[in-house]
Amino acid sequence: MKFFGGEPQHLETEEKPHSAGENLETQKEKALQSLEIERSVKLIGNANNKRINEVFLVELHGDGSAIFKPASGEKFPFDWAGELYKNERASYLVDKFLGFNLVPTTVIREVNGEIGSMQEFVFESTVGLEIDDKLLKTNYRDALKKMWVFDYIVWNGDRHDANFLVNSDGLHAIDHGLTFVREHIQPSIYEDFYDESMPEDIIRNLEQFSDSAEQQNLLRQAMLEILNERTVDACLKRIEFMAAILKKYKGVIPKSLKPSLNY
Ligand SMILES: Nc1ncnc2c1ncn2[C@@H]1O[C@H](COP(=O)(O)OP(=O)(O)OP(=O)(O)O)[C@@H](O)[C@H]1O
Ligand SMILES: [Mg+2]
Repeated sequence: MKFFGGEPQHLETEEKPHSAGENLETQKEKALQSLEIERSVKLIGNANNKRINEVFLVELHGDGSAIFKPASGEKFPFDWAGELYKNERASYLVDKFLGFNLVPTTVIREVNGEIGSMQEFVFESTVGLEIDDKLLKTNYRDALKKMWVFDYIVWNGDRHDANFLVNSDGLHAIDHGLTFVREHIQPSIYEDFYDESMPEDIIRNLEQFSDSAEQQNLLRQAMLEILNERTVDACLKRIEFMAAILKKYKGVIPKSLKPSLNY
């Protein structure tokens, strides 16, 4: 049994963490797109938290596991049901082009005739809510700051402590069905990070991205395949705005700007 016992199976396609500007389809994307599905198990949640939208754990032939969310299993929110899987992929694209390395590789593909998002499975992880707040803020401070900037850029309406995982590789942001679509919610955990230096790599990556018309265009084109122009351009504007803030204020987001970030 590979899912719940024995040795965890990672997607074996070894590759370096993606860097800002990387735009080619990665080996992991290709694997998630094309590997045969050996088995699929529906995750049902627990008694206190019945899952509304369908989530499947799938086993890929010979090479790891993934989380599949079919469009047909999206029930909530009603006005966006059937579209959420696109936001999962678009959020991954933003992460990939900005080189944030927070979001597990995510593609769109069909499984048994159903289209949906497929995301690399994060093994041996603990969900955020199981970690003490103080410990989280000490051990994962830079990653949380990064996720704050990322959540602003993708306009995440659903970041809470059950929507990120940590393991020995660091922090992994999951569940991006409710990005781009509605009110942006700032979890209280981010409040501490105003007026504090942001991690250097994201300052550099945002600067590089905002200096490269080519990268902006590539991300724009990739996102336009799945989202509408208004949504995509609003996202690119948020990237530009965030890059400008970090440049102007030397790597910090001043608390005085809180209203401009629409929190
Ligand atoms: N990439 C992943 N790797 C490992 N586990 C994952 C991954 N994505 C999702 N999960 C697991 O599946 C659960 C549900 O996934 P997700 O939060 O994306 O869906 P959801 O529809 O919002 O469900 P919920 O209502 O429980 O939040 C997560 O809490 C996590 O345990
Ligand atoms: Mg969730």
